[in-house]
Amino acid sequence: MQSVKYALDEFVDDLNGLIDGGASQEKIFDTGSTYLERFINDPNAVPEKYRNPTGVGKRANHGTYVLYHGDNGLLVTSVVWGAGDHLGPHDHRTWGMIGVIGNTITETRFKRKDDRSREDFAILEQDRVNIVKPGDISLLIPDVDEIHQMDNLTDIPTVEIHVYGNDLRGLERSRFDLETGKVTTFATQRFDNC
Ligand SMILES: [Fe+2]
Repeated sequence: MQSVKYALDEFVDDLNGLIDGGASQEKIFDTGSTYLERFINDPNAVPEKYRNPTGVGKRANHGTYVLYHGDNGLLVTSVVWGAGDHLGPHDHRTWGMIGVIGNTITETRFKRKDDRSREDFAILEQDRVNIVKPGDISLLIPDVDEIHQMDNLTDIPTVEIHVYGNDLRGLERSRFDLETGKVTTFATQRFDNC
């Protein structure tokens, strides 16, 4: 009998197969999102310790945990948004796929309306608001559709699985101030488990 479980190592093997096989970004989105859909279908595929906010430090109501990182750049993380957690508009500079395990997250997408001639200034326009539900996959397409704001408007934590084409640690990205247009450069330094 075929098992319905889809373990992390099997999920990662399938993703690595795609990436190492030279799949285009489009193919990674098409096929990889079906792998992610399968993976998030079983919340127990993620260790319980990576399904809760850290409870300590500056962002005690948040948690980011690396589940896998490969030499080819593949990064799989678990991101936990506690009740009321919020992160303002930012970009990613790599392709990404996000799936939710249980609960929902409110994701607001923005489009850049300026000509990108200034590094420290951007005009953003709200494009759409998605209530991302379990089983939905949200795609991050570099330069095209990758600026979002995240809000957990519920009263329980939301767990997401993020899959990226590059390690975010040290990757220069941008945060956007909607009121002033100011762009601030930042880079993820570390995750909560490494
Ligand atoms: Fe993000």
